[in-house]
Amino acid sequence: MNEYRIAGGRRLQGTVHVQGAKNSALPILAACVVCRGVNVIHNCPQLSDIDATINILRHLGCKVKVEANTVTVDSTDIVTDHVPDHLMQEMRSSVIFLGAIAARTGNASLSLPGGCEIGLRPIDLHLDALRKLGAQITEEGGHIYLDCPQGLQGNVISLSFPSVGATENVLITACVAKGTTTLVNAAREPEISDLADFLNRCGARISGAGEGIITIEGVSSLHGAEHIVIPDRIVAATYMIAAAVTHGDVILQNVIPAHIGPVTALLQESGCDIAVKEKKLRITATEKLRAMSTIRTMPYPGFPTDAQALMMTACSVANGTSVVIETIFESRFRHVPELCRFGADILVDGRIAVVKGVSQLLAANVAAPDLRGGAALVLAGLAAEGQTVVRELQHIDRGYEAFESRLCNLGADIRRIEDEKTDG
Ligand code: UD1
Repeated sequence: MNEYRIAGGRRLQGTVHVQGAKNSALPILAACVVCRGVNVIHNCPQLSDIDATINILRHLGCKVKVEANTVTVDSTDIVTDHVPDHLMQEMRSSVIFLGAIAARTGNASLSLPGGCEIGLRPIDLHLDALRKLGAQITEEGGHIYLDCPQGLQGNVISLSFPSVGATENVLITACVAKGTTTLVNAAREPEISDLADFLNRCGARISGAGEGIITIEGVSSLHGAEHIVIPDRIVAATYMIAAAVTHGDVILQNVIPAHIGPVTALLQESGCDIAVKEKKLRITATEKLRAMSTIRTMPYPGFPTDAQALMMTACSVANGTSVVIETIFESRFRHVPELCRFGADILVDGRIAVVKGVSQLLAANVAAPDLRGGAALVLAGLAAEGQTVVRELQHIDRGYEAFESRLCNLGADIRRIEDEKTDG
């Protein structure tokens, strides 16, 4: 088992480059299945979730080449419409392959996806939307079988909740359906717009991405294209909060400030100075943080659920009491008992957490419960007095490229201790 050892209490200072967005790169890579030919995707982060996606692409018959942050996917030949269990279980976002494979081959067979343990995470919205496009879907013993006896047909689809994944599945599939699809109550996350930009480069006709209603005029086929993935707004938030909790002074390169508006607003409210210039952002935190007004997670452009755990670490060391309400996922407070090991004062009732700031966190031995919860514990370790250990790094590795080396470059004292290999 790998773990981080963190000597806390160091002020972060310097410049950090923000990686490309995992949640953009994953659906874009999956969409390459439909975009027949050579696709060159730049600014892909190097992460275990990206490796899992590449494994699925190779299994389907794509030729994939990885050179640093550029992934080239040649999807000229697709040899199967089946993804075996062990590949699907590696991450939840593999459900995006359902639409992508169906759109390319007219059939798909896969098992239910794996992923972060942050709630039930059903896929009913994905399945209902694909049915509206003409797919016949049967579920049996944890497997999903999809076929389109009449081909894919455009339709009006109204999502009861603006699910990010369901919106992506509809975008990818409806591109090659006959006629026009209107998606109502679509997710508006920047990653949706990024996927639509990529698909449009491949010959799709999508308009309105980033708004609540998206129109997709079907075309007969898509071709390969080149694309640069947008910066990761949650990773940007992570480095900003790392600076905030260590009274740091950090410049982030490769950010789109508009994508992190709610995080910036809260950190400013808590006393941080934030200056923005084009794709750069500087955060300076000289004073002790102040409690923030109610943090309520919402679909974009609201406060992102993926930054909730991270912001809770900031609330834990702020002067005063903050209230955090999680509205997106039903069990996304699994980091709370671990944060309490640092001496944080947090009370949870259902989807509400009340965080009373303490004067100083103390080092602890903790386990990452999920990706962002794990990163929140790393931030707590950076702020705490003494030697912290964070275990279960496989969760953190799903989303952060070169995390410890980027933090070290900012002056943090964080080391990864690798498993000792034993014989037999
Ligand atoms: C994506 C992000 C994830 C982020 C989330 C919300 C990726 C790879 N992951 O996840 O990091 O936390 O958006 O911003 O992009 N739901 C249903 N039925 C469905 C689909 C979703 O009930 O068919 C519910 C979920 O259980 C959850 C809520 O809708 O409570 C949000 O899910 P969704 O927006 O679909 O998130 P993901 O696409 O899974």
